[in-house]
Amino acid sequence: MAVLVTGGAGYIGSHTCAKLLNCGKEIIVVDNFNNSKPKVLEIIKELTGRDFKFYEADICDKTALNRIFEENGITEVVHFAGYKAVAESVRKPLMYYRNNVYGTSVLLEVMSDYNCKKLVFSSSATVYGIPERVPVTEDFPLSAINPYGRTKLIVEKMCADLHDSDNDWNITLLRYFNPVGAHESGKLGEDPNGIPNNLMPIILQAAAGKIPQLSVCGNDYPTPDGTCIRDYIHVEDLAAGHIAALEHMKDGVQVYNLGTGRGYSVLEMIETFKRVNGVSVPYEIAGRRPGDAAECWSDPSKAGRELGWEAESGIEKMCVDAWRFASRTSQFPTIK
Ligand code: NAD
Ligand code: WQD
Repeated sequence: MAVLVTGGAGYIGSHTCAKLLNCGKEIIVVDNFNNSKPKVLEIIKELTGRDFKFYEADICDKTALNRIFEENGITEVVHFAGYKAVAESVRKPLMYYRNNVYGTSVLLEVMSDYNCKKLVFSSSATVYGIPERVPVTEDFPLSAINPYGRTKLIVEKMCADLHDSDNDWNITLLRYFNPVGAHESGKLGEDPNGIPNNLMPIILQAAAGKIPQLSVCGNDYPTPDGTCIRDYIHVEDLAAGHIAALEHMKDGVQVYNLGTGRGYSVLEMIETFKRVNGVSVPYEIAGRRPGDAAECWSDPSKAGRELGWEAESGIEKMCVDAWRFASRTSQFPTIK
């Protein structure tokens, strides 16, 4: 009776592993450290006082996955492993299709072979493309505006097809909005192997003096201050969403938005970060980034009704926790 966590050494996976262990679950973790570090596993053990089995393996490697299922009584899978950088997916689409789509299909095949048919999958608000209005509900039209988004959309469809072919599958697709923040201990957080692309890691770099300034991508959007509005969600709330999803697993393919239901602009995030942490965040106003929606924030009420889950933390805590983690580590590479 163990939960397999793919990508469990990563940002969202590590927080979820810690919560699963704290809830008394037995977990097995598989990761290839493509975008994470082995020390994260030790930190999870230290924070929870619990041990777990780990396999360093690629989910595209069917032999390795077979072995993991052979050696463990896995009843559910929480599937985080994948690539997530939008711009990189435009440059290297095949790499994204292989890891995110092919990797998931290998995982599903092995799960099927071992009669393990309960899956929680990391989808993304990116499947809404550029939403026509806000807040975004789960029944909005889906589209992809970049290869990364397309991989998420394809996996969502693959899951639906799989369930159509075999009704024994219980699949929950969690569409995350913008995950930020870190574990309250300051020991787990977002620690990417490379140059970050998302707003919060870039704010952290600017605050730490690792980059001269942050570029705000456009201030001429039809929003109150002209900058884009997003639904930032604390990674600990997101992790709790996975526990709720596992506890409320039901027949069919279920889809939930995981967001706070509140949107904040880029300038509001920067100003809040400065205020709560007492640091400066140098920035300049730059041009728009292609493919950005003016506003994207969720209606998370379905998850509230059906999973009994709602986000608890506000952006102040997200900013404080993110900075605590970044200040403890010197992991951020300097951009030249
Ligand atoms: P992350 O890169 O920190 O974690 C992913 C983990 O998976 C890493 O530890 C990486 O080493 C591992 N991994 C990647 N490919 C693998 C493979 N083939 N085999 C084994 N391990 C592999 O990313 P994250 O932010 O924790 O995201 C987790 C999931 O959530 C991803 O699927 C991502 O697309 C999705 N998601 C993330 C965000 C976000 O903004 N962080 C938003 C929406 C959805
Ligand atoms: C947030 C806001 C930028 C960088 C992406 C993916 C989405 C999901 C979450 C995985 C935007 C602005 C950013 C910068 C800026 N990931 N910004 N200067 O684009 O909402 O979503 O991450 O699934 O799929 O698309 O997040 O953090 O990149 O940007 O002004 O240097 O910050 O324009 O308005 P985004 P983000």
